[in-house]
This record gives sequence, structure tokens and C-alpha cells, in this order.
Amino acid sequence: MAEQQLYAVPEHWAANAKVDRDAYEALYAAAAADPDAFWLEEAKRLDWIKAPTVAGDWSFDEDDFHIQWFKDGVLNVSANCIDRHLPERGDQVAIIWEPDVPEEEPRRFTYRQVHEEVGRFANVLKAQGVRKGDRVTVYLPMIPEAAFALLACARIGAIHSVVFGGFSPDALAGRIQDCDSKLVITADAGRRGGKRIALKANVDAAAARAPSLERVIVIKVTGDDVPMHDRDIWYHEAAAEVSSECAPEPMNAEDPLFILYTSGSTGKPKGVLHTTGGYLLWASYTHDLVFDHRPENVFWCAADIGWVTGHTYVVYGPLANGATTLMYEGLPNWPDASRIWQVVDRHQVHTVFTAPTALRSLMKEGDAPVKATSRASLRLLGTVGEPINPEAWRWYHQVVGEGRSPIVDTWWQTETGGALIAPLPGATDLKPGSATKPLPGVHPQLVDEAGEVLDGAVSGNLCITASWPGQMRTVWGDHERFFQTYFTTYRGKYFTGDGCRRDEHGYYWITGRVDDVLNVSGHRMGTAEVESALVLHPKVAEAAVVGMPHDVKGQGIYAYVTLNSGEEPSEDLTATLRAWVRKEIGPIATPDAIQFAPGLPKTRSGKIMRRILRKIAEGEVDSLGDTSTLADPAVVDDLVANRQR
Ligand code: WTA
Repeated sequence: MAEQQLYAVPEHWAANAKVDRDAYEALYAAAAADPDAFWLEEAKRLDWIKAPTVAGDWSFDEDDFHIQWFKDGVLNVSANCIDRHLPERGDQVAIIWEPDVPEEEPRRFTYRQVHEEVGRFANVLKAQGVRKGDRVTVYLPMIPEAAFALLACARIGAIHSVVFGGFSPDALAGRIQDCDSKLVITADAGRRGGKRIALKANVDAAAARAPSLERVIVIKVTGDDVPMHDRDIWYHEAAAEVSSECAPEPMNAEDPLFILYTSGSTGKPKGVLHTTGGYLLWASYTHDLVFDHRPENVFWCAADIGWVTGHTYVVYGPLANGATTLMYEGLPNWPDASRIWQVVDRHQVHTVFTAPTALRSLMKEGDAPVKATSRASLRLLGTVGEPINPEAWRWYHQVVGEGRSPIVDTWWQTETGGALIAPLPGATDLKPGSATKPLPGVHPQLVDEAGEVLDGAVSGNLCITASWPGQMRTVWGDHERFFQTYFTTYRGKYFTGDGCRRDEHGYYWITGRVDDVLNVSGHRMGTAEVESALVLHPKVAEAAVVGMPHDVKGQGIYAYVTLNSGEEPSEDLTATLRAWVRKEIGPIATPDAIQFAPGLPKTRSGKIMRRILRKIAEGEVDSLGDTSTLADPAVVDDLVANRQR
């Protein structure tokens, strides 16, 4: 099988990497044999105010359910990401910022400058009354101040909740209210791919539905004229009033660091909570191992700070390790398909880490835009967020990497804090499309529907049997939902929601979600969220949303919509409903196809049979399976006849 082709570790990697094959095996064995000793030793990566004496204290069982790591340790995350590097690398560039518009100058901040910026930002927050444990919502474009804002929260012990700048005012309002946040940090507007994103206007619209909101700090980015209300203050004005000296707040390892909302198969997005000690250790450990971190290398994770990848691999992991991290304001393919590689050349990037969907969209433009650039500095490539198809993998490897750079395909989730299954560039032979092997300390298991453990080369549902320091600790405000969502499908295990195959070499191949979560361009989207947005429209009676194959996005959104009686389907209404969902959730949730359906396939008890809807959306109309249990089998014929595309 072509996909089984093995790409051996390149010689120079095997010879020079921090972790080679033997070292990986030894680490894996050590972490399995004595996890407490292993993690207490690894914890020395961080600078503790009080070093922990215990590592993991956890149980996934209902009677005794709890997850804690390093619980008697005390530290500050921002001091770990900044202050401790000052003696040795105060003048090293910590953050390179590349603007949206290529003609503009990049900005560079040394660790010393980051220290000042973060101290000042922290004092601005304090002056607004923000205290340890308060929630601060961050709704910003990819500007350096976004990193400063996160680190400033960490410095004073406030809990940040970043909301992706592409989310709508409603989605923002929901996320402000859910964690009872009193303060939002935003910008007048954002810039991406030459377009403006009206962030401040969105916050104003959200404020009407978010009564907890008291204060908005606005960073001037574009200079657009924006109305300022009583609750609004300009960041640059507030910053001029405060000093840049702010002592880091001592935090317990189990004190919260951030909340990040993510989609599940049911209900509203969940506030995934990560704590200071375990999360930072996981960010540092995985960034070091998976990317073979060296301080002299420029590391570029192209994710937006609105997603967990931006948290862990733009900000916390690289800065904890004293790296130079690149932040890019724009899009990979704007103004043209060479841009991402031009940025690599401009900043002599060593490692580039991006999503398969970006690669697929660039691959469509052919090899010429890539070959127009040098890329001589590139040594390591990474992917994250969705399965990578072997064709895109090989293009990345051959055309972009010219065969010399390994690809680390990292599998993980918002819930896991950082990578769990991923190759190490100096240790793991690669197979295109496989995330390969678990990192030391990670214990995957495949189970069947009934929860029976599957051994050997098989497909099953992916669980993790033991806690790791970077594991989420709770769903904000709903600990019961945390337990119910992840630990009840298969008792005593963390269930990831992913399907997975393990091959004869013990390599893991993630096959995608087995629940009602879609992965659209590497972004998580609950079908339930899109459905609730659709049924809010006055003409819609009912909606069912499923995924469909999409050659760039990976998955597209396919919506079946039943209209209220008297309403007629039309192309106009299709356009209206697409715009409606964009407004309700954001552009990333826009349905790719809308099919008007007089009826949906339901069981006699009224449950929508999504299996059938998925098959129709996928075009597999010859394998619909048994439809005899439907209340009205005839609806299926209509659905098949009116399939979209
Ligand atoms: C999917 C993103 C295949 C998976 C870090 C997971 C992947 C969901 C990979 C989490 C990968 C992530 N190969 N699938 N390398 N990485 N996924 O929370 O379905 O936005 O459950 O975290 O993305 O998405 P999330």
C-alpha cells in the first residue's frame, strides 16, 4: 500500500536530534514504569517558586473522580515564559511579528522587551480592578499584544478566555456570559488577507447581550474610527499611566490558567479549563521533544491564537523554552500562494507548523509559487488539526521540504493541552497520514463500541487510559458535564471522540470524529451548534447538519432544512440562510450545501437517523443500509432525489 511507505529518519536528524530512537524507547519505558518519578524529574524544566513533591494525583472512576498534577507546587507561568530567560537571553528575540501586508515592516521583541510590555499590560489590567481568578475575555487579531495580553493575565493570576476573532457577536456574548467575564480586550479592528474585521463593533453588539461586561480595553491597530462608550478605554492611554514593573503572582500548580471554548457533540460550546503547572509543563515538554527545540531556531506555528494550537505552540510552549516564536497576522495564501514561503525566507524560519487544509489550498495552486522561494532555512515541518491525506503529505515533504525535513503530524485536542501522539523528528520513521506513536507518558487504547479492549492491528475508538499533566481539569462551571462527556462512554478511561486504526507497527492513524463533531478546515464545529443557529431563523422548522467530504476543507457542512409550512425553498433563501449562520456563529460555520427537505428520516420514536443523512451528503446513496425502521421510509427517496452538488 502506497500509504504504508516508510520515510526513514534522515541521517543528520538521527545523529543530531535531542531524542533519537533509543532515547525515545528509554523515555517511554521510564514514564510507564514510574510515572511519578518521571514527571517530577520533567517538572524541573520549569522554574518553581516552590517545587512540587507530588506528580499525578488522579482517578477517572466515578466514585473518586479527580485530576491533579504537582498540586503542592507554586509557580508563575509568565515568569517561566519571560523573567527566567532574562539573564541568559534578555536580548534574544522572543517574538517576531509579521504583518498582514507584506510591504509593512515586521516587528521584533526581545525577551527584555516582552518583559516590559507584559508588565505594563498587567498593570493596566490591575488598574482596571482585575484580580487573581477573574476571567478576562480576549478578542484580538494576531498582533503581538495578543501574546502580551495572555501573559499579562498569567502574570497577575487572571484567567484568560480567548475568543477567535472570526466569531460573531452572539458567539462572543455567549462566551463572555458563560464565564461571567467583566472585561474584554479587543482592537479597533483586525486585518487579515487585506480585509478588515470589525472587532470593536462586534464587541459593542455582544455587550447588549452580555450584562456581566463592565469594561472594554481597546488596542489601536488600524486607526479606524470607532465609537468609544463609557465602558471603553484605549489601551495606549491606560498604558501611559502605569509602570512596566509588575511582580508575578505566585500561583498554585492547580490554579486555572485559561478557559478555551470548544465544540462538542451536544449543546453549547464547553469552556475547557487548563491549570498553570501541568499545562505549562506539557506545552514545554511537547514543544521541546516534538520540534527538537533549539534557542537559535526560528519557530513558526501558523495557528491563530483563538485556537488551542495558538495558545500552546505560538505562545506558551516556545516562550517557556526560550525560543524565538513567529506570529503572523495574515493568511497563508494572501496576497498570493507564495506568501507563507516568503515569510519563511524573510525570517529564516527553521520549523513551520500548519494545518493540512492550508496545505491543500496551496497545493491547488501548483508547485511554482513554492519554487519561487528558497526555503533553505527549513529543517522541520509540522501539521495539526485534522488527518492529512497522503497526497498533501507527500507534496509538503517533497515540494515544500525538498525531501530533507521530517513532517511531525501531531494529534491532539483542546482538551489535551498539547500533542499526545506525534513522531519525534530524530526518532520516528514516518508514514504519510499517520500521527505515528504516543509520546512518552501517553497511554492510548483502542476499544470497540461495547468497550472491549482491542489489541494488535485493529480499528476502534481512541481512549487514553492514564492522565497526563496537560489534561484539561474541568468544564468551566459544569464539572458534571466534564465527567459525563469524557469518562462515561468507556468507564475509567478518557474517550477522545476520535476513531483510530493501529497498524502492525503500532502506528496510530486517526480516522476522524466518531461523534457529531465536524472538522472544517481544522476547526471544530458541533453539528448541534449549526442546527440551533438554523432553527432560529423564522422560516425554518427543523434542521439536521452532517459533514460531507470537501477537498480543501477536509469536511464541509451539509445542512438539511425543513421549512415551516407555507414557506417555499428558493436560491434566495439558501443565500439568506447561509448569511444567517455566518451572522449567528461566524464565517467558519457557513454551510457549504443546504438541501431543503420536506421531511427528515426519523425512527418511530422521533430520533433523526443521521447515518442516512451522512451517506446522502457523502453521495453514497447505494449503501444507505436498513431504512425499514423509519417512521416514513419515503422521505429517503425525496432526499436522494434532491441531493445537493
Ligand atoms: C482532530 C486541535 C488527525 C481530531 C489541536 C481531534 C487530528 C480534533 C489531528 C481536536 C491529527 C487534531 N490527525 N486528526 N494530527 N489533530 N485532529 O480541539 O479529530 O481544535 O479530536 O484541537 O481535531 O480539535 P481541536
